[in-house]
Amino acid sequence: MLHSFIQKAKGVKSVNAKFKRGIFIAVSLLLFLGLIFAGIHHLNDYPIEQISQGSKDAESVQVQSRYPSVDIVTRTQDVDGIRIHEQFPEFQTPRLNQMMQNFVDHERQKFAEGVEASRASRQSLMKPYYHLYFEIYPLGTGYYSFVMHTEKDYAGANPEIHLQPYIVDLSNDSIVDAKQLFSEDYYADLKAYLLDQLKADEERGSFIIDEIYEQYLAEHHLGEQLVLTHDKAEFVFEAYAVGARAAGEPVVALTHEQLAEYLTDDAVKKLGEITENKVLAEREETVTKRKAPELPPNMPSVVTHNEQAGKKVAITFDDGPHPENTPAILNLLDQYGAKATFFMLGSTADFYPDLIQKVARAGHEVGNHSWNHPQLTLLDDQRIQEEVNRSDQVFEQELGYRPPLMRPPYGDFDERVIQQVHKPLVLWSIDTLDWQSHNPQAILQIVKDQLHDGAIILMHDIHAETVEATRLVLEYLSSQGYEMVTVSELFE
Ligand code: NI
Repeated sequence: MLHSFIQKAKGVKSVNAKFKRGIFIAVSLLLFLGLIFAGIHHLNDYPIEQISQGSKDAESVQVQSRYPSVDIVTRTQDVDGIRIHEQFPEFQTPRLNQMMQNFVDHERQKFAEGVEASRASRQSLMKPYYHLYFEIYPLGTGYYSFVMHTEKDYAGANPEIHLQPYIVDLSNDSIVDAKQLFSEDYYADLKAYLLDQLKADEERGSFIIDEIYEQYLAEHHLGEQLVLTHDKAEFVFEAYAVGARAAGEPVVALTHEQLAEYLTDDAVKKLGEITENKVLAEREETVTKRKAPELPPNMPSVVTHNEQAGKKVAITFDDGPHPENTPAILNLLDQYGAKATFFMLGSTADFYPDLIQKVARAGHEVGNHSWNHPQLTLLDDQRIQEEVNRSDQVFEQELGYRPPLMRPPYGDFDERVIQQVHKPLVLWSIDTLDWQSHNPQAILQIVKDQLHDGAIILMHDIHAETVEATRLVLEYLSSQGYEMVTVSELFE
């Protein structure tokens, strides 16, 4: 609020520069008083936030990403009752960030148009679904490769999946134009080779159709399909791009040496530079394996609260960890002698592994919230297990054990999910709607209105406003004589 007020003030000021000096001073004085008033007003609303903002540079703790110069952004929004979940990379340079923003906006726009177009045919119970996520592959110094995935499901039928690979060059704040890497002389050979490989796949090769492949490559360059990793080159194709739906999303993998045969001489040198050394040094200290904390013996397979717990509540934070908000929340929990449970996304925890340890060392509970937040009931059994296992591996590397609790994204589950996840599913009894309101007072009010013994409270540490809300909620719960415990402790 103060920020936008200052921006407005700046705008007004430049106009006033044309006026005579006296008027200018008078208007400036009014603006100045207005700023002071706005400041005082703001200070009354959120004193802690103001104070911490004032000392931000000096004291705020920003945890470093394990991928140098790249962070991960998670956004949850509600658009006309449709829940949108997006994860995308954030860079420290303007051009790449703008490029990414354009991609994110463009995909969202296409989804909005698809929702509009399918409105008439959609059955009322089926909700459209939007999910944007990505894979990151660190390459040589300053180079990364990304594959952006967008899933758009308009009517609960087959989702539309869009794959978009990028190779970025941080030192030039630019995207590497992979099309330029290929030699025209050998391009036809590469096309033929990839088609052979696609058709050689035992399971799905018979669904590849030559005409569809030719048609697709008349409109797309193979450079657009290239995903470089430090040890291989993959050509990825979307569903329907090269065959029938049953062909899935086929991938052909080549070694760097194989790929080099189809590149220009310059590109071969460049390829060496891009993939030269692995940026991502393996984290050296891997915690020794140990047994996961034991769950209370009578914990049910699905929990929302525990009314037998007495004056205890479990605060839970989903979708993180976040490099700034999570440390700030840890400080607050410490101040109030509170324990909480953090249901982390594996994809995000992978960016900030130090936070996994930090949370656990402070006596809080780490839980699994899937790898990248899909609606689990829409996935087949194998993909449900992958969502759980891939995250568990990241947690195990830092904690020495696999967290015993799971919170399914959106609280969405069925019998099959219970079977496949094989951990107690933790839902909630108080939804603070922090992701929607972004308003600490509104969040506190929901807790006040719905508070009960043994409650499980849902919040999200990816939102800056939730930090202040946490302080208000902790203050209130303490004043009401509640003990703040982990989910497991709530069932002891
Ligand atoms: Ni979530």
